[in-house]
This record gives sequence, C-alpha cells and structure tokens, in this order.
Amino acid sequence: MSNPSILILPGDGIGPEVMDQVVRVIDWYGAKRDLAFDVSTDLVGGAAYDAHGVPLHDDTMAKAQEVDAVLLGAVGGPKYDDLDFSVKPERGLLRLRKEMDLYSNLRPAQCFDALADFSSLKKDVVAGLDIMIVRELTSGVYFGEPRGIIEEGNERVGINTQRYTESEIERAARSAFELAMRRNKKVCSMEKANVMESGILWREVVTKVGEDYPEVELSHMYADNGAMQLVRAPKQFDVIVTDNLFGDILSDCAAMLTGSLGMLPSASLGAPMANGRPKAMYEPVHGSAPDIAGQGKANPIACMLSFAMALRYSFDHGEEAARLEGAIEKVLADGARTGDLMGPEGGTPLSTAEMGDAILAALDASL
Ligand code: IPM
Ligand code: MG
Repeated sequence: MSNPSILILPGDGIGPEVMDQVVRVIDWYGAKRDLAFDVSTDLVGGAAYDAHGVPLHDDTMAKAQEVDAVLLGAVGGPKYDDLDFSVKPERGLLRLRKEMDLYSNLRPAQCFDALADFSSLKKDVVAGLDIMIVRELTSGVYFGEPRGIIEEGNERVGINTQRYTESEIERAARSAFELAMRRNKKVCSMEKANVMESGILWREVVTKVGEDYPEVELSHMYADNGAMQLVRAPKQFDVIVTDNLFGDILSDCAAMLTGSLGMLPSASLGAPMANGRPKAMYEPVHGSAPDIAGQGKANPIACMLSFAMALRYSFDHGEEAARLEGAIEKVLADGARTGDLMGPEGGTPLSTAEMGDAILAALDASL
C-alpha cells in the first residue's frame, strides 16, 4: 500500500518558515515511527500570484482534490493589498475551501498551563480552557449571491448575501454533535435569530439535528451575547457551532483567550473520500504576519499542532497526535519561548528553528 499523501502549501509571509519546521516533524514520524508520508509542495496565495498571476493554479487545485490532506501555512501580505479583488491571496484559500467542500472548520481554543499568564484575561478565567469552535466554512455571507458593488442612482451599493440551505446547516451541526459526543457532550449554537431569518432557520435545524443526540446538552445564544460570554466565562462552553462569518469573528476572540494566536491550529473537513478519509485541509489560525516574516522569529507551534490534527482526523493516529501535542506541552512547561510568548520578565526568545529543535528533542525523548 502506498503512503498517505500530503500536499504542503506554505503560502506567504511566515508560512514558509513555520512549515519548514513541520516538514522536520513529518520526517521524524517517517524515520522514528514508521509513519511515512508522500509529501509534495506547491504555491498558494501571493506566492502563486507572483509565479502564475492567480492565487491558486488549476493544477494545484486538482492536486489538492487528490491528496489525503492539505497543509497550508498562511496567505496574504501588504505587497498584494492593491491587487484586484479576484486575484487577492485570500481568494486562493477560499477557492480551496469551496471546491474541496470543507464545510466543517474545527478551531480548538486550548490554554496551555504554562501560558495561562499570557492571556489578556485573568488566569483563573482561562486556565484549563478547552473549547472547540465548529465554524461552517463553505456558505453563508462569504459565498452567497447576489454579491458585488453596483450603481444605483448616483451612488454605489455594496451587496453580500447571507444564505443557508437546511442541508448546509444540518451537516455542520451534525459534525458539531459528533465532536461533542467525544468531548463533554455540550453544544452551544450561535446565530442572530432575533434579527436574521437565516438565524431562525439555523436554530430550527440545529435543534432538529440535536434530537438525534439525546445525550448532548444543546443550548442557543445570540452571537453577540456569545462573544460577550466568551470573554466573561469561556469555560462554560464545550463545542460552539456557528456560521461562517460569526465563526470567523468568534474564533479570533476565542483564540486570543489562550494568550497567543501563534498557538492555535485548525482543521477544515469535508465529506469522506473513496478511501474513507475526509477531504481535509489543516492550517494555523494565525495569518502571514508580514511584520516578522523572513526573520526566523515566528512561532511554529500552531502549524505543528495543525499537523497533529491531521494525524488525528485524517490518518487515525490519535496516539501519535497526542505524542506531538505532549512534546509541545513539555517544551513550553520547560520554558521554551518564541518572541510572541515572551512575558514581561524578558529573556532571550528562541528562533523558529530553535523551537523546532526543542520539539524534535522532546519527540525523541517520548520514545
Ligand atoms: C480565517 C481568515 C480568513 C477568513 C481570510 C484570510 C479569508 O480570517 O481563516 O479566519 O476570513 O475566513
Ligand atoms: Mg479569521
């Protein structure tokens, strides 16, 4: 049997440098755990635009459809700010999500004990935090039609459309309930049913799906209240399920609870392929961080944890995912810090590669 395949799309900014460290981890699994992957690499975002004039080449899109998992670094940067909307780096990412039909975006927000002091919230509010946001990723206002900027009378009008079908809501909800069954059996659904019809339908469909999961406690919140509750008492949540736009906003909010955006991974999953694995793309939640790109300062942990999610959700190696997560927890507990994790007490931050060295050493020690 051939090895499982991974397509690496490092992208822009700090994407390539954090991905270099992930490649070392992938190689480690091949050498030390007999878990070899067929890895290929291609361009996305601004890097693809520079080479091909489009943020995602059709050949790359076709490859992404064929592999077992895509690992993406980050897209975007100031160099591309003035490009036409249709070829902006972000369009490459959105095309991958849409054409691979990755409807369920899992964004865990976990607070590592060693980092509880880095949160902008009080330590006891966030210590031990472990929540999962399930964001619908292929519909809603991100993709709804009509959209555009049109002329009306003597002025222009910007239009986007929030649109959800019952089946789109249902499959996102189902993935949230399935996850909750493997966690603490609580789902909180967030929408704006008080002002949006799409929110009313969202609530109805989620409630209906919930009937199939009697063990799971389901609650509903208006998304604005949800944002407030996330900063007031985040540990009340287990799984949060929400639409594409609210999920974008609420997941950034949840991410910051944990102290550093440089720590958070994500998985975007679709329907099962012929081999039973879900269509999948894994990426850190952080962006391309152009201000520190190319300096070897970036924190590679979010991208490594994204590979851990790939081990768990695509390759059925939960125990190997836990090994990598454990190695990361260990180096943090031992005081390893990149620049984004430096407290007021100061010290010398590790470079991206030195953080990689520390994690590889911890992986060796786990054997
Ligand atoms: C995210 C990002 C993207 C989004 C951008 C880069 C298009 O903010 O993944 O959260 O808005 O979905
Ligand atoms: Mg976002």
